[in-house]
Amino acid sequence: MIDNQAIRNDFPILKQKVNGKPLVYFDNAATSQKPQVVIDALESYYTEINANIHRGVHTLSQLSTSAYENTRTKIKTYFNAKFNHEIIFTRGTTESINLVASSFTAILKKDDEIIISYLEHHSNIVPWQLLCERTGAKLKVIPINNDGELIFSEFEKLLTNKTKLVAVNHISNTLGTINPIKKIIDATHNVNAAVLIDGAQATPHIQADFQELNCDFYCVSAHKMYGPTGIGFLYGKEKWLNKMQPYHGGGEMIKEVTFEKTTYAGLPHKFEAGTPNIAAGIAFGTAIDYINSIGIKNIASYENELLQYATKKFLKIDGLKIYGTAKNKTSVISFNIKNIHPFDIGSIVDKLGYAVRTGHHCTQPIMQFYNIPGTIRASFAFYNTKEEIDGFVAAVKRAILMLS
Ligand code: ALA
Repeated sequence: MIDNQAIRNDFPILKQKVNGKPLVYFDNAATSQKPQVVIDALESYYTEINANIHRGVHTLSQLSTSAYENTRTKIKTYFNAKFNHEIIFTRGTTESINLVASSFTAILKKDDEIIISYLEHHSNIVPWQLLCERTGAKLKVIPINNDGELIFSEFEKLLTNKTKLVAVNHISNTLGTINPIKKIIDATHNVNAAVLIDGAQATPHIQADFQELNCDFYCVSAHKMYGPTGIGFLYGKEKWLNKMQPYHGGGEMIKEVTFEKTTYAGLPHKFEAGTPNIAAGIAFGTAIDYINSIGIKNIASYENELLQYATKKFLKIDGLKIYGTAKNKTSVISFNIKNIHPFDIGSIVDKLGYAVRTGHHCTQPIMQFYNIPGTIRASFAFYNTKEEIDGFVAAVKRAILMLS
């Protein structure tokens, strides 16, 4: 059970007014708000233990190293990875995907194939296009149906012995579709290819168990999980990470450097050149504790209740069409109002205190599929309420009146 009022008190920003109106934050798929404990963790790092990690014998360096490494252990436990060193800290999902794409330059050959899907965020499209340009590999795309679901039988047809990597999201940021990733992973392994899952939109809402999924890579951003921006991680199976070239060169990722030759540090440091975002890494651990204190299953079930409630209410608005009607979806509703540009609705509801995202949501192929310029996207988190949804419906109706 979610104690909504108590939870809302944990998030100082929710007490804000925007444009003179109480803030209603429905842009959680872009980034989530931060509970006070996460904000406190950032502050206490800088006020109490600020020092570079893995570098000094002095006390502060040891304290900051151990707090940072503690987050790696929390991630390993929370997501059930096999080893701590399979967790590589990055700036977030985008960097995690780019790391794998860069390292696969030395692994792929001309005419090898990479499969992605129509549902991908640009960050899970462009790095693979760049990789194809570097290697001569080819990109194949899993089509979707009108509900915004992957067509699994078409995916099976794309899988061949040329397939070397499949990269799909766990949940679509634009449509909310929850993809059948376990089925995708198993089918891909049948042709001996690797699978990368973009988990940016999934981990705030549902549990991912890396060993049970048996994925080869899984990419996460802390800021979608009530943690800070600028930190996330790449999970990679040890066997893959050992095979892969480092992404960035620099301090901390080496064993020995001479002008003739450099040897690399072991995992995970081989992929962690330079001073990381230490404060954010530590506070990411606090965000995981916070999610655990509520329970991801409770979060999922409450957010599903919000989704069902909002879907029913939204569909009563004249001329409203929802994009993304998958059977299995999370608390994201993308919609348009007949004959009105999404940007106009977004601007008016903003004046009334409602934060939603409008546009293509970094998924232009989805917009091309539906032949629309963009959508209005309301994405809910567990601190949102049914009253906020009612207020939003009224605000959209008001915007329609003003624009018609
Ligand atoms: N990927 C984020 C979104 O969907 C930024 O809004």
